[in-house]
Amino acid sequence: MDQLNVAIVGGTGNLGSALALRLGAPGVKIIIGSRDAEKAKNAVATWTPKLRAGELVGKTNREAVKDADFVVIAVPYEGHAQMVSDLKGQLAGKIVIDTVVPLNKVKPFVPPAGSALQEAQQILNGEAPVVGALHNISAVDLGDVDAPLGDVLVCGDDAAAKQRVMEIIQRIGATAYDAGPASNAYVIEGLTGVIIYLNRKYKSKHGSIKITGIGNH
Ligand SMILES: NC(=O)c1ccc[n+]([C@@H]2O[C@H](COP(=O)([O-])OP(=O)(O)OC[C@H]3O[C@@H](n4cnc5c(N)ncnc54)[C@H](OP(=O)(O)O)[C@@H]3O)[C@@H](O)[C@H]2O)c1
Repeated sequence: MDQLNVAIVGGTGNLGSALALRLGAPGVKIIIGSRDAEKAKNAVATWTPKLRAGELVGKTNREAVKDADFVVIAVPYEGHAQMVSDLKGQLAGKIVIDTVVPLNKVKPFVPPAGSALQEAQQILNGEAPVVGALHNISAVDLGDVDAPLGDVLVCGDDAAAKQRVMEIIQRIGATAYDAGPASNAYVIEGLTGVIIYLNRKYKSKHGSIKITGIGNH
């Protein structure tokens, strides 16, 4: 397979660093993005010894996306719109994977655009396809590269981009489902609020979802 370059915007955080470890494979370059280049480099120094294969590099978010095929947005909702706006103009020819869940003190809400994914779509205005994924996965399990993962609901309006993101999800050891258009994103994003509640209620860090009754696909 050709070299695959994946930038993770907010890659110094819980989800981003865990995803980096899962993505590590021969021929995969993971570019950890941060608002602070030094912080990105420190994260790379911390995580590289745990990486099974592939390559980790650290850059500012804007530099990180330059050579990427896929750009994962993994920042808190508070910084989402500003971050996507800052990256606009750098994303043509790439696929954006939006993992962001709109939360207010761990409670989910529906933002004015309809979902975080649609917010990104509106801001980018067709510059790059935006695909929602990984919202319901536990970063704790993701970072433990041998741990079983929940299923991943993938949504978006660009069928080809969605298919490519589903392939990436399969590579990290999760089962991906095409969960429909971008207009479904608010349900998938909001479900994470329920999972957070379940984790608290039942004292877990591993809550996730499993789809049943569909069979092989
Ligand atoms: N954690 C999970 O289990 C999980 C699961 C599914 C989905 N998600 C979603 O994934 C996203 C990231 O979650 P996380 O737990 O990894 O978050 P996090 O650790 O709190 O933050 C991720 C990174 O985002 C950057 N950041 C923080 N505030 C920012 C702001 N206002 N503007 C721009 N960048 C900012 C920081 O990087 P720098 O300081 O280096 O810039 C930080 O390391 C969230 O939207 C969350 O809803 C998380």
